[in-house]
Amino acid sequence: MEDGDLALFPGAGLQVRNHDVHYPFRQQSDFWYLTGHQEAGSLLMLAKGVDGCAEETLFVLPKDPERETWEGIRLGPEGAKSSLGFADAHPLSAISERVGKALEGASRLWYRLGEHPETDSLVSEALADLRRRVRTGVRPPAAILDPVTVLHEQRLFKDPTELDCLRRAGTITEEGHRTVMGLARPGGTEFELEAALHWVFRSNGCDGAGWSYPSIVASGNHACVLHYTSNDGPLTDGDMVLVDAGAEFKGYAGDVTRCFPVNGSFSAPQRAVYEVVLAAQEAAIAKVVAGNPFDEIHQAARSKICEGLVQLGVVQGTASSVEESGEYKPWFMHNTSHWLGLDVHDAGSYHVDGDSRPLEPGMCLTVEPGLYFREDDSTVPEEFRGLGIRIEDDVVVIAEGGPEILSVGVPKSIEAVEEACAAQGVSLPGGVEG
Ligand code: GLY
Ligand code: MN
Ligand code: MN
Repeated sequence: MEDGDLALFPGAGLQVRNHDVHYPFRQQSDFWYLTGHQEAGSLLMLAKGVDGCAEETLFVLPKDPERETWEGIRLGPEGAKSSLGFADAHPLSAISERVGKALEGASRLWYRLGEHPETDSLVSEALADLRRRVRTGVRPPAAILDPVTVLHEQRLFKDPTELDCLRRAGTITEEGHRTVMGLARPGGTEFELEAALHWVFRSNGCDGAGWSYPSIVASGNHACVLHYTSNDGPLTDGDMVLVDAGAEFKGYAGDVTRCFPVNGSFSAPQRAVYEVVLAAQEAAIAKVVAGNPFDEIHQAARSKICEGLVQLGVVQGTASSVEESGEYKPWFMHNTSHWLGLDVHDAGSYHVDGDSRPLEPGMCLTVEPGLYFREDDSTVPEEFRGLGIRIEDDVVVIAEGGPEILSVGVPKSIEAVEEACAAQGVSLPGGVEG
């Protein structure tokens, strides 16, 4: 920010679920990153050399003993200063007047239009008011800039405190995956595994409902639906289950996928496909080295997947002909990696001047190739139909050598997965008659 700059960052508001019930509150990630404030409806104003403005002002819900009796204790403006260290803080009712005044003294405004209708209106009304008064000597800001261009670059590089949160999300996610591997059995259900995951996440103090995105527990052919979330099917003997689930710790996401047999033992076709995806994932992880372009990760996974498709007899030709022609796409239709952080698909650009971005220490990302053979896909050998395999880990680029794997403890080799499936003593309370 330059002298005369003002920036506005609205927090998330409550969202109605039905009638007078709200969805569980989840703070907007940029706002959380900048403030550490968890209450709904807040606004952050930053100012540099703007007359009458502190550098940081937080607008928050006012103290209100009656509302607090129903809804819980609020920090209030004084608390925002003493607990969060803000130079200045005011109740929400002061926003309109104070933002209007601040804009009057600002030469540029950093604000992301189009994401928060309430603040969009506030800004456009304040600007319209200033324009009406130009003959009195008022000068409205000459430019509106998108703060995300700067902020999301900052969010892309995780500092040591953020890495600790991501590590904790990783170990809690590990416990969730281990638990469901031990619990699954023929006759069980996807929703029971979903409940177990969330029990582990929440009981370890994770935020909100405990997860960083709705968990995917997909047995059999359901695994071929990439974002399957109904999780209401049975666990059938002979099927695999795909579990894509991550804990959210202090806003930081885990995002891990594992696949395991319902009955605990891989069949030969399951093993064959799993080994192809595992080889692709390991080759891709090996490319997570500082200096390598981001796209090399996907290229490495894609080559191994193509090699595997030829080996499995799904396609004819050579690995390179399959790769070049794009014949692999019906079964490997997504990319291999995305940034990971406060958002599961985290902030940060993937290209610099049109080229794939070189990896740098502190970047956190997933590595998650997959193969999906739908049960109605008559083009693949019958033994593979109804099988969807994805293997996903969370990794951090470090200064030298291969990445730190945040989800390193989640069983992954065939032996480790079968061992976790055979673990004794994993149980949760059973169902209720009715
Ligand atoms: N769980 C969402 C993803 O893997 O990208
Ligand atoms: Mn995932
Ligand atoms: Mn992912």
